[in-house]
Amino acid sequence: MEKQNLDWGSLGFGYIKTDKRYVSNFKDGAWDNGTLTDDNTVAISECAGVLQYAQTCFEGLKAYTTKQGKIVTFRPDLNAERMATTCERLEMPVFPKERFIDAVKQVVSANASWVPPYGSGATLYLRPYMFGSSSVIGVKPAEEYQFRLFGTPVGPYFKGGAHPITVRISDLDRAAPHGTGDIKAGLNYAMSLHNIVDAHKNGFDENMYLDPQTHTYIEETGGANILFVTKDNKLVTPKSNSILPSITRRSLVDVAKKYLGIEVEERKIHKDELPDFVECGLCGTAAVISPIGKIVDHGKEICLPSGMNDFGPVLKKVYETLTGIQMGLIEAPEGWIYEIC
Ligand code: PLP
Ligand code: COI
Repeated sequence: MEKQNLDWGSLGFGYIKTDKRYVSNFKDGAWDNGTLTDDNTVAISECAGVLQYAQTCFEGLKAYTTKQGKIVTFRPDLNAERMATTCERLEMPVFPKERFIDAVKQVVSANASWVPPYGSGATLYLRPYMFGSSSVIGVKPAEEYQFRLFGTPVGPYFKGGAHPITVRISDLDRAAPHGTGDIKAGLNYAMSLHNIVDAHKNGFDENMYLDPQTHTYIEETGGANILFVTKDNKLVTPKSNSILPSITRRSLVDVAKKYLGIEVEERKIHKDELPDFVECGLCGTAAVISPIGKIVDHGKEICLPSGMNDFGPVLKKVYETLTGIQMGLIEAPEGWIYEIC
């Protein structure tokens, strides 16, 4: 199969229209059979639930070309499960797991020419999402929904790839105590837009959020979980019920323990501990692991000893092991890799 004529190595994290996307509609209490379509536009009522009351959620995963030339995806079952949890919380119908995985397979196969080649540093980012499509004017859930899934080839989430970024401790919150921080609701991201624009205006790459109840413990950023490394090479990651349960973070924790013998602590992390860490990074599907070189806490600069040029050694090792598993260089744990074609 001939690949698209793109400069794969120069891709940023943006939208490029690919050939086919999957659509299924929920009406009268049931999902239809679903289909692939060329049409990348959506036509809905001016009064649709998504437009009036933000009844929408999404997922993110990637398709990779392995060293062996196969196209694979990584743990799509966990994205299906997390989307089900999100839908239940937002009073939306669950799109069944087997159908979610089948939709991933259909979209990736139909867009195989858009899956970046092995070694290019790029991947096909997949975006499953769902929204309330029927009219609602009183505040209540919609009765009809649309599930869609498209792919777009992407490069690194942060310009500069593995170059360390600078983050600031945020005064604003992305989530409320007992709110929706642990699900992938579109509204969480709308909440973070003003703050990310303001962070960029002030020279920061991202916001590091604190727990919304006490503003004391480290939570996550707008689109990724956080990893720290201690002086004695332990991996530490925040535990909180207002952060998204990142599939990348859960996988990295397993990889660190089982492949690399690294001790891992998942616990509350007080912001006063920040100067004690020797490495820090963001992790997520889009970000993979992006090293953090500097954290700014209201003018006070905390410079990670790993510096502003590269990964520190521990995060580099876990990064290389996870991406090695995804690219077919290292044997994957049972059930992590779904071969598509
Ligand atoms: N945290 C937030 C708020 C996110 O949006 C994401 C991205 O999906 C993550 C963490 C990372 O999750 P995952 O590793 O499942 O992509
Ligand atoms: C992802 O990593 O898949 C995300 O959803 C993060 C961001 C692009 C919102």
